Amino acid sequence: MTTQIQNLQRMPWNQPSLGEEEIAEVVDTLRSGWLTHGPKATRFESAVRDELGVQDAFAVSSCTAALHLALLAAGIGAGDEVITPSLTFCAAANVLRQVGVRPVFVDVEPATYNLCPEQTAAAITAATKAIVVMHYGGHPCDLIAFRDLADRYGLVLIEDAAHALLARRDGLRAGSVGDLATFSFYANKVITTGEGGMLVGRPSLIERARLLGRHGIDAPVWQRRRSADYEVTVPGLKYVMSDLAAAVGLRQWSKLAAFTARRAEIAAAYTRALSGLPGLATPRVLPGVEHGWFLYSVFIDPEHAPLTRDQVADRLHTEHLIATSQHFRPVHTLQVYAGSADRPLPVTETAAVRQLSLPCYPAMTDQQAERVITAVHELWGRRN
Ligand SMILES: Cc1ncc(COP(=O)(O)O)c(C=O)c1O
Repeated sequence: MTTQIQNLQRMPWNQPSLGEEEIAEVVDTLRSGWLTHGPKATRFESAVRDELGVQDAFAVSSCTAALHLALLAAGIGAGDEVITPSLTFCAAANVLRQVGVRPVFVDVEPATYNLCPEQTAAAITAATKAIVVMHYGGHPCDLIAFRDLADRYGLVLIEDAAHALLARRDGLRAGSVGDLATFSFYANKVITTGEGGMLVGRPSLIERARLLGRHGIDAPVWQRRRSADYEVTVPGLKYVMSDLAAAVGLRQWSKLAAFTARRAEIAAAYTRALSGLPGLATPRVLPGVEHGWFLYSVFIDPEHAPLTRDQVADRLHTEHLIATSQHFRPVHTLQVYAGSADRPLPVTETAAVRQLSLPCYPAMTDQQAERVITAVHELWGRRN
């Protein structure tokens, strides 16, 4: 075992794929003398807008910034209730709290771990202003059901599409159905700008978000002739994406389809090899879905598997030098949200102890995917 380990390279859970193209584009930006939000950010916005078929796009400093601007632009604030899953990253709940909103956590569906439309409908009250859905791991939520629900009750629909850049359900692109949608280009996402995000959606809302995201100044710096030639009409924030980040984003964007296809290949290899292991559920892809494959999630049922999720993670790490991750620690279990769940969240809480994210990213080789498969089989006591 020791000699075997000595010959193994540690395998990260995730790794960005960056090439000479990104480096050249950044150098070009540095040489251009224009570093902040400018021509490259604008090109990046156009590329996203055209590809997703959305009406407008605003490149920002993170998905969290996009979520914050989405709430401000839609006029969501103190006294409002917003329905959102707890099985997600804390960003949406944090910005809700920042604008004085009480997040109402609703459970997810066991098939996809996305927010459940029926339970969402049951949680709507006179104070509900919006629904923030999240496309778990890259599998879109039921976009048609949530659009209908939002229209029926006059609610704002916001898609946190941080995981779902090239995903589709029932012919609809994730990020194109909400009044607003947000994407993340954080370092571990399907494409990255290091830190970065994109807010897309209805033009009137994006226009408001642009204003709020550049200090409330009524004209972007790079369109102004004189530096004092502006007015501040609202107390804004500074959330724009720099052209340095956009330079990376533009080149990453042109690789998105290839990256997603490679992720899908690795996911298919995992599902072929791991389906049928006792107590291990591979991710379900519902009919009519094109998965974005940000995550490859398995769910380990301790009653039927030889090991618990934590034991699998520990042994992959120590015996096979394979890193994994977990998505997510439910938001309502985080210290600052303690006691904030006012309804049972059984699927969320079960997922929290069973879910494990295996390495799945374009920089992985077939041999590395095979190494993960072999390691999992070994832990289940199977020989290949
Ligand atoms: C579902 C979800 N939303 C939002 C975010 C926040 O993204 P960012 O780091 O770009 O602000 C993340 C980050 O991992 C996420 O997983």
